[in-house]
Amino acid sequence: MRRILITGSNRGIGLALVQHYATNGDLVFATCRRPGSADELQQFASQHPDRVKVLQLDVIDAQSIAGCVDAVRQQTDGLDMLINNAGILPGGVDARDANISRLGDLEADAMLHVFRVNSISPVMMTQAFVGLLRNGTDARVINVSSDAGSITLRSRCCDYSYPASKAALNMMTRCLAGDLKPDEVAVVSVHPGFIKTDMGGVNDTLTLNEAIPTLVQTIDSISLEDTGQFFNWDGKKVDW
Ligand SMILES: NC(=O)c1ccc[n+]([C@@H]2O[C@H](COP(=O)([O-])OP(=O)(O)OC[C@H]3O[C@@H](n4cnc5c(N)ncnc54)[C@H](OP(=O)(O)O)[C@@H]3O)[C@@H](O)[C@H]2O)c1
Repeated sequence: MRRILITGSNRGIGLALVQHYATNGDLVFATCRRPGSADELQQFASQHPDRVKVLQLDVIDAQSIAGCVDAVRQQTDGLDMLINNAGILPGGVDARDANISRLGDLEADAMLHVFRVNSISPVMMTQAFVGLLRNGTDARVINVSSDAGSITLRSRCCDYSYPASKAALNMMTRCLAGDLKPDEVAVVSVHPGFIKTDMGGVNDTLTLNEAIPTLVQTIDSISLEDTGQFFNWDGKKVDW
């Protein structure tokens, strides 16, 4: 039974990952900002009380992160996988807010908020959980990125904050991978596929049911040799 912590697990990809890993027999720390209103997650957790522990976590709140570390430590002395899944794209794929995406309307505070959630919080989370990860087995950190953050794949215009925040996350992955390799903790970026979620657009091609089995195969096959790399959901490499 692996011990897995997932951020942003009340809906979308995070919730689907909780359901997959708990059904698979792993112990999942399913974290979310508002456990009191995470109805679907709470219902699933009540059906799997030994495998799903719902914990409060706002990834941009240092106190909330510290409280979450304490709560996990009360239940285990190690973590085998941290999935930094929580992310934002204000307005969603089809109607991105202009103040984060359109030249002429950009606002620094709105842009910084996107970077804070998408690029910085995965590092703060990894820093906070590194002690538990060092005690893990085949420990790994999965930073849920996006191929929107690939500079190579971006040939023409760009909508600023979201892709840039994922490009920054990818560099954070490289930094963490270098620092944590001596501890035998692998750190990778993964593009989960374009999936129909609240964030994903109407034209996004995959349903969660289609994407999750392949995505978890990719996540589960990662070893220390892969640390610092950027993977597509199907296991292929993504150009930086
Ligand atoms: N869907 C796609 O096609 C796609 C493609 C490429 C990459 N991704 C990435 O995949 C990840 C998950 O996306 P999704 O499609 O599942 O999006 P989603 O349905 O919009 O879910 C986003 C999750 O992140 C959580 N979150 C946001 N801010 C948070 C914070 N400060 N603290 C804790 N949790 C927070 C949300 O919680 P609340 O309910 O509290 O807001 C929600 O659980 C993101 O990192 C996204 O960038 C998605």
